[in-house]
Amino acid sequence: MDNASATPFDANGRLRHLLTLEGLPRAMIVALLDRADDLRAQSRGGTRPLDLLRGRTVINLFFEPSTRTRTSFDLAAQRLGAQVINFDIASSSTVKGETLLDTVHTLEAMHCDAFVVRHKESGTPEFIAANLRSNAAVLNAGDGNRAHPTQGLLDALTLRRHVADFSRLCVAICGDIRHSRVARSDVHALAALGVREIRLCAPPELAPQASEFPQCRIFHDFDEAIADVDVAIMLRLQKERMQAAAIPSEAEYFQRYGLSAQRLRRAAPDCRVMHPGPINRGVEIASDVADGPQSLILEQVANGVFVRMATLAELLADKA
Ligand code: NCD
Repeated sequence: MDNASATPFDANGRLRHLLTLEGLPRAMIVALLDRADDLRAQSRGGTRPLDLLRGRTVINLFFEPSTRTRTSFDLAAQRLGAQVINFDIASSSTVKGETLLDTVHTLEAMHCDAFVVRHKESGTPEFIAANLRSNAAVLNAGDGNRAHPTQGLLDALTLRRHVADFSRLCVAICGDIRHSRVARSDVHALAALGVREIRLCAPPELAPQASEFPQCRIFHDFDEAIADVDVAIMLRLQKERMQAAAIPSEAEYFQRYGLSAQRLRRAAPDCRVMHPGPINRGVEIASDVADGPQSLILEQVANGVFVRMATLAELLADKA
C-alpha cells in the first residue's frame, strides 16, 4: 500500500471522510452524537423514513465478513432516503484480479456519493480516500486492528444515554486488545469525551504496547481490572487476526478473563456491560451476563443505526 494520505476535512473545515476518531475534536464528536439523537427523534426511532439523502448513492465495500455493521450502514442510508449498493466482493472482478483502486474508480465512474469500507488491512480506507477521482466520502467500517470509528461513536452514544457525567466514569475494556480496532476507537472516543479512567485488560499475549495507549492503565489480572468499574466493555477473541493459538483454551480463557456474574459483582453495583458483537457466549462473557439487566449490548446495536445515519448526514447532506 502506498503512502498517500487523505485529510479528513474539506477546505471549510467540515468533515469530508470518517477514517478514525483519533485527532477529531471533542466538539465534532459531540455534534455527531447530538445529530444521532436528533435523527432518532425525527425518524421516530427509525420507523419514519427521512429524505435527507434522497438521490444519493452509498456503496458498501466490505472485504471482510460482517453482518451487523453492514446491515446497520445499509439501514442507516436507506432510512435517510439514499440508494444503497452492497458490492458483492465474492462475485466481483476483484476475484478476477482487478485491483482495489480499479474497482473504486469503476464505481466512481458510475457516480456514487460515499464508500463504506471494511478491510482486513489497516489503512485501506485512507488509501482509497487518498486516491479518489471524485469527491465521494469514505467511511471506515473497520480496518484491520486500527480503527472502527462508528463503533467508538455508538459506544459513546450508548453510554451517554445512561451516564450524565463522563468525568466520574471508570471504564474497563477487556479481552483481545491487541487485535481490536474497537478498543482503539473506544479509547479515542471516551478520552475525547473526558472519561476519568480507562483500564485495558488482556492476557500478556493479547495486550497492546503500553506506549500506544498513554492515557490508559494496562492490567493482566481481570479481577483487579474490574474492581469498582462503572462500565465493562468486553471484546471477542479475534482468532482471524492471531498468528497462532495465542491463548491456551477457551475454557481456561473464560476462567481467567471471562465476565461471569460472580466477577461482575466486583465492579460497581450498577456497572454497565457492553460488547460490540458478535459475542462468544461462555468465552469472553457468560450468557446470563450478556442477557442480564446490566447488559447494554442490544442498545449498542440499536444506537449503531442512528450514529451511522448521523455520520452519513454529516458527510453527505447539504453538500453540493
Ligand atoms: C467488531 C469488528 O468487526 O471490529 N464487530 C463489529 O463491528 N460489530 C468486533 C469483532 O469483530 O469482534
